[in-house]
Amino acid sequence: MPLLTWPTKSLPNPEPADLTLESIVYPAGRGYPHATPENHLALGDNLGVMAALLPEYEGRLDLIYADPPFFTNRRYPARVGRGEDSRRPQDWQLAEGYTDHWDDLDAYLDFLYARLALMARLLAPTGTLYLHLDWHADAYGRLMLDELFGRERFLNEIIWLYHGPSPIRTAFNRKHDVILVYTKSERYTFNTDAVREPYHPNTVKTFESSPRAGFGKVPNLARGKVPEDWWYFPVVARLHSERTGYPTQKPEALLERILLASSNPGDRVADFFCGSGTFPAAAARLGRNFLACDRTWRAIQTTRSRLVGAGNAFTIEVDGQAPAPLGQVPLAFCVEKQTIRLENPPELDYWEVDPAWDGKTFRSARQACRPVRTGAIPIEMDLPGEAASVCVRAVTVNGEQIQAIK
Ligand SMILES: C[S@@+](CC[C@H](N)C(=O)[O-])C[C@H]1O[C@@H](n2cnc3c(N)ncnc32)[C@H](O)[C@@H]1O
Repeated sequence: MPLLTWPTKSLPNPEPADLTLESIVYPAGRGYPHATPENHLALGDNLGVMAALLPEYEGRLDLIYADPPFFTNRRYPARVGRGEDSRRPQDWQLAEGYTDHWDDLDAYLDFLYARLALMARLLAPTGTLYLHLDWHADAYGRLMLDELFGRERFLNEIIWLYHGPSPIRTAFNRKHDVILVYTKSERYTFNTDAVREPYHPNTVKTFESSPRAGFGKVPNLARGKVPEDWWYFPVVARLHSERTGYPTQKPEALLERILLASSNPGDRVADFFCGSGTFPAAAARLGRNFLACDRTWRAIQTTRSRLVGAGNAFTIEVDGQAPAPLGQVPLAFCVEKQTIRLENPPELDYWEVDPAWDGKTFRSARQACRPVRTGAIPIEMDLPGEAASVCVRAVTVNGEQIQAIK
């Protein structure tokens, strides 16, 4: 079997991350304060995070979606402020998002190979991996997966088609990504009926007028068809209601299809390059339990805001003791009976309250998020009971995190 080789190829034994429980978020108070979350979000390099998960999760994940940097050698800024609307650039600024910069191809291959190998170990015997890349590195990804899973475990090469402006004038516009799908064994989950779609109206018409059109086999037109391995979904730049301002955010519909096809409610699914959190948010909405990770604080913050609107309690764990960055912006609040109110807050994207702060793990009992595009975040919330020592954490529209305790 052909193997991909490069001078620095090796499979190191990565050092497990030292994960510290930073907070437990109970969206809208669901499960507060006793529910044990089945969902986990980690801030750290996914190599160490996955290594730390091995003792508990090796061979136990039903589905992994991996959307790593694509080897574009670019930097991707995030939009902060009200970044959802491209036509109103006065409302947002650019801030650091993430980098996809490499010394050379070998460095990228080292990065990808080590991580895919850990994902292969974490997958359950019936599990499926979706690796999302594009023309920059899909060929290398495919050879790595052939090696790690076996060529016979290849299930699909999905082409995600989209359209949009492009500066290219000397080649055809590159407007598709490649999603490589591998299963751990020949026994895997594939929910055909969950992803059926209507037949094209022309197909329906053809069969209605000539039942022999399909070589004598008439499809079940009412049930719909299993989608082809090429999918059209508009990019998030065209989906104003989904935009978070985080770069290279993927459309929810794309990830929902993957989740519906290759997992069931109650399954454990994972995304170790979660970015803005599209996958964990879709997973939570569809009743799956998730593990998610990213190495930037901005990604974790964006993901947290999305998860607050979807699903059950989740933890946030950070690698090492490093707290999330705390800014210098002051924050004042008052508590009256069971209501908390912020006093003259700066413009906020997010805030949350722990009404019984123990000085260690933040138990977020209430959260408020700035609604996309409309801009008005509530500054008052009801508390779940009598407040003891109250801790408020907030994130400004510029991404600064602030905290106040009373
Ligand atoms: C292509 S983006 C993912 C976008 C995401 N699917 C979404 O819908 O928003 C890749 C992400 O991988 C993260 N990343 C890159 N290297 C990482 C690493 N070693 N550990 C954890 N996250 C990493 C980046 O910070 C970035 O957020």
